[in-house]
Amino acid sequence: INSDILTASLLRWYDQMGRNLPWRVKGKPHPTPYHVWLSEIMLQQTTVVTVKPYFENFLKKWPTIEDFAGASLDDILHAWQGLGYYARARNMYKCAQQIVASYDGKFPRTSALLSKLPGIGPYTAAAIATIAFEEKITPVDGNVIRVLSRLFAIQEPLPSGMKRIFSLAQTLTPSYRRGDFAQALMDLGATICTPRNPQCFLCPWQKSCQGFQQGIAEALPEKKPK
Ligand code: ADE
Repeated sequence: INSDILTASLLRWYDQMGRNLPWRVKGKPHPTPYHVWLSEIMLQQTTVVTVKPYFENFLKKWPTIEDFAGASLDDILHAWQGLGYYARARNMYKCAQQIVASYDGKFPRTSALLSKLPGIGPYTAAAIATIAFEEKITPVDGNVIRVLSRLFAIQEPLPSGMKRIFSLAQTLTPSYRRGDFAQALMDLGATICTPRNPQCFLCPWQKSCQGFQQGIAEALPEKKPK
């Protein structure tokens, strides 16, 4: 695999076709970790369209993590109303308290440390570390699993195929613009490499995609039969 060519074509596509989302700051290389954390936790079980206004409202109410940690849990739960899965909001509150108490209000800068905080699992830790701090890691969510399964025509059913997917994600992680690369993969999975009717003719990776070449892209990833 030529990951340099894959990276270059994906980032070129992302610059033109990537979604404009409020947690991506135009003209700034990296959003602040507070913004990334807020958006990633909200996006865990909620769609982008629903999250947008909540994300903006939270930032208006609590512009910094100190503001957030200084709020009352009641106010946070109230602002969370409609997003569901309230454990997320409770964990965020605990997490913010710890960051203010133990880290002087600054998010730790590695996925290893981030994943020790309340509500931050391996995916979210990787997303914050790469999007805010350029750590050499690519967060693997459902979108990324689908894109990579197709790109490499991985026919081993999930979940046993996951090992290879994590390893490929790590191998593909570029030496520059890593946060953009991660978000480009998410956008590719959300807008082109969709579960049904993928728009392969619009895909920057079409020529390299083994699933496309073998005519099996849409059938991947395979799930273990029950
Ligand atoms: N889903 C989870 N994180 C995301 C992000 N940063 N951009 C778009 N969709 C996402």
